[in-house]
Amino acid sequence: MPKTPNYFKNKTIFITGAASGIGKSTAMIFAREGSNVVATDIDEKGASVIADQVVQAGGNGVGVHCDVTDRNSVEKAVSLGLERFGKINFLFNSAGSAIKRAKFLEIDEDLWDQTYNLNVKGTFLCMQVVIPHMLSEGKGVIVNMASNATRTGGAAKSPHYASAKGAVHTLTIGVGREFASRGVRCLSLSPSAVDTPFQDISSKEMLDASIEGNPMKRMGTPDEIAEMVLFTCSDACEFINADTLYLTGGSKA
Ligand SMILES: NC(=O)c1ccc[n+]([C@@H]2O[C@H](COP(=O)([O-])OP(=O)(O)OC[C@H]3O[C@@H](n4cnc5c(N)ncnc54)[C@H](O)[C@@H]3O)[C@@H](O)[C@H]2O)c1
Repeated sequence: MPKTPNYFKNKTIFITGAASGIGKSTAMIFAREGSNVVATDIDEKGASVIADQVVQAGGNGVGVHCDVTDRNSVEKAVSLGLERFGKINFLFNSAGSAIKRAKFLEIDEDLWDQTYNLNVKGTFLCMQVVIPHMLSEGKGVIVNMASNATRTGGAAKSPHYASAKGAVHTLTIGVGREFASRGVRCLSLSPSAVDTPFQDISSKEMLDASIEGNPMKRMGTPDEIAEMVLFTCSDACEFINADTLYLTGGSKA
């Protein structure tokens, strides 16, 4: 929990991939705290539905189309968010996917490019567009989604995705270290399997093996990841920067 009561009230979070899974849970948890939520997604209708739910839950919400792989789209969404709420205190880069499962020799260039465009370029563009605003405020927190797959390499499942998340992890370190002295923190979260539509591309055997290999015998829930987004954005421990936090229930694979 934050050190300061009502810390999140009237502060603004810009979320990518907010229409589903971890992004959606994060939108609702910030709504619970009375925040302003700019819920963005390539799925514009889904983003609007979440924004409506944010309002019903007591926050202020706006749903905005944003394709994170397209700089114009990101700039437009950030401008809309700033127009509506005047500031962006937090950026949560949740949009991401493994696109499809593939063993190393099965990865074609199209899958490679799509995966890096969405997970790496998308995170890069959103940070590059939002950071100047945070610097002008002298404060801001960026949370990126990496993955526990950076430790396993996604062996025989999704090395394209695991390596893209490795790039997100490294970019997070660089950004966090470059801007820390100017008030902007940047960190990433690295969960093992979380129960969201992300896993629709996983076979039943793959999911069963992942659950069996987890000491807690289950996947994480999107709310468990979203609560960590809230904690890391808070003033409870501002020493978290340029690093990743693993949320795995003890799973190493
Ligand atoms: N679920 C897991 O097991 C898991 C584990 C580790 C890391 N992650 C990461 O967590 C993040 C969130 O995943 P999730 O589980 O919520 O997945 P999800 O599939 O439920 O949600 C992903 C959202 O991203 C959106 N999206 C896709 N392409 C986009 C684009 N070009 N621009 C904007 N939005 C786009 C989708 O429409 C969707 O709403 C991702 O970065 C994922 O790689 C997930």
